[in-house]
Amino acid sequence: MKITFKDSIKDLKGEVLFVSVDSKNKDETVKENGVKTLYLKCDETKMNLRKLYLLIRKMVVMAKGVKAKKLVFNFDDLRFKNIKISKYELGELIGSQLDFANYEFVKYKTPTKEGFNFIEEIIILGTDKEIEKAILKGHTIAEEVNKTRTLSNTPGGDMTPSILAKAAKEAVKNLPVKVTVLGEKEMERLNMRAILSVGRGSDEESRFIIMEYFGGKKGERTTVLVGKGVTFDSGGINLKPSSSLLGMNMDMSGGSAVIHTLALVAKMKLKQNVIGLIPSVENMASGKSYRPGDIIRSMSGITIEVLNTDAEGRVILADALTYAKKYNPEVILDVATLTGAAAVALGERASAIFTEDDELAKKLEEIGESTGDYVWRLPMWEEYENEIKGSLGDFTNVHNKDSRYGGASYGAIFLYQFIKGKAEGVKAPKWAHIDIAPRMTAMAGENLATGALGTPVRLLYKFIEQIK
Ligand code: BES
Ligand code: ZN
Ligand code: ZN
Repeated sequence: MKITFKDSIKDLKGEVLFVSVDSKNKDETVKENGVKTLYLKCDETKMNLRKLYLLIRKMVVMAKGVKAKKLVFNFDDLRFKNIKISKYELGELIGSQLDFANYEFVKYKTPTKEGFNFIEEIIILGTDKEIEKAILKGHTIAEEVNKTRTLSNTPGGDMTPSILAKAAKEAVKNLPVKVTVLGEKEMERLNMRAILSVGRGSDEESRFIIMEYFGGKKGERTTVLVGKGVTFDSGGINLKPSSSLLGMNMDMSGGSAVIHTLALVAKMKLKQNVIGLIPSVENMASGKSYRPGDIIRSMSGITIEVLNTDAEGRVILADALTYAKKYNPEVILDVATLTGAAAVALGERASAIFTEDDELAKKLEEIGESTGDYVWRLPMWEEYENEIKGSLGDFTNVHNKDSRYGGASYGAIFLYQFIKGKAEGVKAPKWAHIDIAPRMTAMAGENLATGALGTPVRLLYKFIEQIK
């Protein structure tokens, strides 16, 4: 989709759908005297940022509904008194939401004769050079979000660890990001037994994807992003029930988000050092699978008592977090579709975040609110550690009394074991765990295509952009 800018509607050629935003409207498209208009109802006095996201997306979805190819609106029509953001922030927001709403995963669909219903061009009136720059920046951000969605939406048969690794290279082609992919032999040499154990049940080889972008000065603060890259989660020997298997091709959504955040950071030439780490496996049930009761000595030396092979995300992240420390990072953020329990707690409206650091939590909440990648903090107190103490190993990968209560917090406190206990004399990194399972897919009413959401690329990107 193209975004262009014009001074007046007089310059428009061809069939165009005009947008009119007003409280007196009802949502409809009308053709009057040969002119097509999309009326959007919007009560200015009740507007807020969250509603603005929905409004912009509704505009695109309705236009697609009437097979419009060109859409035109006035920038000022989307400025509301109640919404206290600058016109540049608004520009970026508009730019990103237009593309976000125009996306659909059609790779496996046969087009009809008329083709797919995508908007081809959006013309915005009443902008200035700075606003235009902001809108185009939003457009670039959304492009990476949509590429994240495409990777996540890809069926498990076509998205294996080695394909994900290729996709990581492809995502940063011609960008100054170094991608190194470790195979199983290399992981063995590094003692990444936690990752290797989970991947063992699959015919597909596991991979450890390393993406390095040094936009800052050498030795300057580094941020490490870790993304869960389970390309299909069958549950393993603790096989999931049928109803829970569908959608588990998207269990690499944390990984795809990290891949495209790195691409975005490099595209925008941020002066930051950012590393992306994606442990990638397929969690399958076979004669070679890791078993309930197995005890794995992870790369850190900590042993993991596997009580449930379906809690595999935290097991592979254990080695990735250990590896992350090698960069002596200031901040580590991990992103994972880790627990159904996070969705039980929050519904599908926000990702769950866990951190010891109040300041970091606050920052993530604020950026979440301003980007639409909403997050909500859940507890990860030390007390939770009691329920993951192992009987034969150091820590169990699920609650040691087999309770389902507080599942998201137990996932987080397990990961925390691999963050704390840094070597002496080295400052512990700030760390937050982002459980995106609740926001893996779009909900009805969000004015977005069904399937993967591409969260939290915008949150991660803005977080890095705001580092001083
Ligand atoms: N990938 C799943 C979590 C998940 C569920 C993500 C639904 C997105 C939607 C994860 O590996 C898993 O299976 N977690 C278990 C943990 C349990 C065994 C403690 C879960 O949530 O049931
Ligand atoms: Zn699982
Ligand atoms: Zn999983």
